[in-house]
Amino acid sequence: MAFTLESFSLAGKVAVVTGAGARGASIGRAYALGLAGVGAAVVVGDINGDGAKGVAAEVVAAGGRAIGVQVDITDEASVAAMAQAAREAFGGVDILVNNAALMVELKRSLILDVEIDDWNRLFAVNLTGALICCKAFAPMMRERGGGRIVNQVSAGAYPPLRPYGITKLALVGLTTSLARELGKDNINVNAIAPGATQSEAGQALSQPGSPFSNMIEATAAIRPKGQPEDLVGALLLLCSPAGSWMTGQVIHVDGGWIIKV
Ligand SMILES: NC(=O)c1ccc[n+]([C@@H]2O[C@H](COP(=O)([O-])OP(=O)(O)OC[C@H]3O[C@@H](n4cnc5c(N)ncnc54)[C@H](O)[C@@H]3O)[C@@H](O)[C@H]2O)c1
Repeated sequence: MAFTLESFSLAGKVAVVTGAGARGASIGRAYALGLAGVGAAVVVGDINGDGAKGVAAEVVAAGGRAIGVQVDITDEASVAAMAQAAREAFGGVDILVNNAALMVELKRSLILDVEIDDWNRLFAVNLTGALICCKAFAPMMRERGGGRIVNQVSAGAYPPLRPYGITKLALVGLTTSLARELGKDNINVNAIAPGATQSEAGQALSQPGSPFSNMIEATAAIRPKGQPEDLVGALLLLCSPAGSWMTGQVIHVDGGWIIKV
């Protein structure tokens, strides 16, 4: 079949984006607007329900279809309720973007100083929450003959030097494991590893002149800091027919920070 730009269309598809609602110019918001822009109906999920509804309203104002849902991805009943809301609004789900995570909220501590309650909460959101969403939505994708799962990992997992990076490298493991397990169901599972992205949370973590900011400026091959919109092209590739032969992969969108020396 000849390649055309139609291969990036998601017309008639339904996407769930978690973590898309709390802070203004978040990555999840850019993902929701990007998916809607190529035709997908979007379920915007966040623990901040008002924020999720606000992003859904932005999608609708831009001419798309969306609903906002309050969800705690660590709670199976809450995720099941989001799945039910998706079914009622749009009839099913084809795409899951596991974007919700704890990041800016984290206390920065050495590994051996981390409070075990904090460690457990971090894994519950960043890893188990993604698994709970996969368990809820993969069966709905099977019903529709296949689907796409995209897990949001991080350049901070290469190598992981803090608990956050450890959760994200574990999420890479969930990605490759599920890619193998769900391939027979025509469900592709991939990951995006962003670099320092200037969402509100990302800006707080990479203040100009901070040691982290100086480090990425010294090591990235091109523009060290990106905008949430810089990640959308990779997402659309992984969610659309254009990316149908890709599974189990991590796409690094980070200005070449990953090839640091
Ligand atoms: N900004 C960066 O530089 C950067 C870099 C690499 C990876 N990432 C990843 O990108 C994603 C989005 O980051 P962002 O910069 O937009 O940050 P963000 O803090 O704005 O987004 C995270 C979202 O997850 C939501 N969330 C937290 N716990 C939840 C729960 N239990 N249930 C449902 N939602 C919950 C938060 O409310 C928030 O809206 C995260 O996975 C983050 O780890 C960000």
